[in-house]
Amino acid sequence: MAGEDEKGKGTAKTGAEAPRKLDRREVLAGLSTVPALGLFGYAWNRQRQYQQARVQAASAAPVASADLQVINVGLLGAGAQGQVLTDAMLRIPGLRFRAVCDVWTEYNQKRVVNQLGKFKHEVRGYVDYREMLDKEKELDAVVIATPDFWHSPHAVACLEAGKHVYCEKEMSNTLEGARAMVAAARETGKLLQIGHQRRSNPRYLHCYQRLLGEAKLLGRIVTVSGQWNRAVAADLGAPARYAIPDARLRQYGFKDMHQFRNWRWYKGLGGGPIVDLGSHQIDIYTWFLGANPSQVMASGGQLYYDSKTHEWYDTVMAVYDYDTPAGPVKAYYQTQTTNGSQGYFENFMGDQGTLLISESETYGAKLYRDPNAPAWDTWVQKGYVTAPKVQEMKEKTEGAVLDVRESVSPDEHKVPVVLGDPYHQPHLQNFFDAVRGKAKLNCPAEIGYESAVSVLKVNEAIEAKSPLSFKPEDFHS
Ligand SMILES: NC(=O)c1ccc[n+]([C@@H]2O[C@H](COP(=O)([O-])OP(=O)(O)OC[C@H]3O[C@@H](n4cnc5c(N)ncnc54)[C@H](O)[C@@H]3O)[C@@H](O)[C@H]2O)c1
Repeated sequence: MAGEDEKGKGTAKTGAEAPRKLDRREVLAGLSTVPALGLFGYAWNRQRQYQQARVQAASAAPVASADLQVINVGLLGAGAQGQVLTDAMLRIPGLRFRAVCDVWTEYNQKRVVNQLGKFKHEVRGYVDYREMLDKEKELDAVVIATPDFWHSPHAVACLEAGKHVYCEKEMSNTLEGARAMVAAARETGKLLQIGHQRRSNPRYLHCYQRLLGEAKLLGRIVTVSGQWNRAVAADLGAPARYAIPDARLRQYGFKDMHQFRNWRWYKGLGGGPIVDLGSHQIDIYTWFLGANPSQVMASGGQLYYDSKTHEWYDTVMAVYDYDTPAGPVKAYYQTQTTNGSQGYFENFMGDQGTLLISESETYGAKLYRDPNAPAWDTWVQKGYVTAPKVQEMKEKTEGAVLDVRESVSPDEHKVPVVLGDPYHQPHLQNFFDAVRGKAKLNCPAEIGYESAVSVLKVNEAIEAKSPLSFKPEDFHS
């Protein structure tokens, strides 16, 4: 991208008195606390520490009751998210792990096979999913956490082999791929749950069912905003001793180890931050509004990272239009990867109140009642929201002029629902309950498809440099 390397350099002054503005390379280099290992070493160490902490934190599943149907599970993709899902599944009773399939035998596959062995699961490791499906006839379900471009071939093969499938978001990096998944689920009659885990999160369910549905605390929602801000991060790497041989990398669609580790940033493999992060939250817009969007316009670009290794946009700002049953809505979404300030949340604003909600405990969920809205005493008494924390009037700052027209800040109520389990556990539990015939999927293939239609269009709109509209039939899979 023209001029990208020059950013941040122009204003630097020399001399001890003038603090020099750091350029992008220096910021990235500064992330390395282990200079001998460099950036790859830093990222690698961070990820290893995180994974080790997760493995240690995982606890054995509570003992299953004698009448609970045991489900034989295979894991396809044992990377960062495969690890998180495994940790959550280890807490769910009635699961028996049988197989782990991952092309990275040198590291990820070995790590998860060993971990499961410690929890007395006898698992076999596989490189190729076809071999796993061929040999593991007893599998009831496969949990897929491979890179997005593998989701469709993996899910379709598993469904056709008669397995129920839990597949991570984004459902697919292409709509053709996503459609093939829906068709395979329909044709085989097997379950396909897409990993939009907020759909099973008790906090989100409480807000959707009780606060928006039953109590209608926001009145008519007119605007929505949301974001996922992430700090600058070094590319992912791996020590040379764990490198995958070139022939295997190419066989599974990766040109080298860098692309294998950083697939999210590459066209044809992932979809960049708007798909990786935004898909979670744009899915909530649609769910809470009860409508798919009618139009999107978006601006984005490779503002910071090297576009040769970050083919997708590191910064995206999008505006959706929705025609909801209650009226039109404008919804803004931003994701950027150069400053993590204020993290991630979704904010729904109606003519009677505001809901600020996040998967993260930093925000939890808070409601603000607009002064003209009817009292919420009933909902406080029912325990749907906490009693308000009254906003104190700010004392007049010396020298400041008071303006009588200033809006009074609404009182803050909290949503008293906290998820005590790992984020993904309720969604996995919902999937396994559905496998046992005791629940309906919270995010079946059709919903995952609708979400993919809304999200993948943002990258198209950036390229088109003009608003793109959706037809209702675009969401039919
Ligand atoms: N729901 C969430 O909150 C959430 C969070 C993070 C990631 N994810 C999703 O999980 C998926 C995996 O992401 P990640 O961060 O774990 O990536 P990752 O690169 O850490 O892990 C991917 C794993 O898949 C393996 N793999 C790649 N191609 C394969 C193939 N053809 N067959 C078998 N194994 C293969 C790799 O060796 C690696 O171990 C992505 O779809 C991502 O969007 C979801």
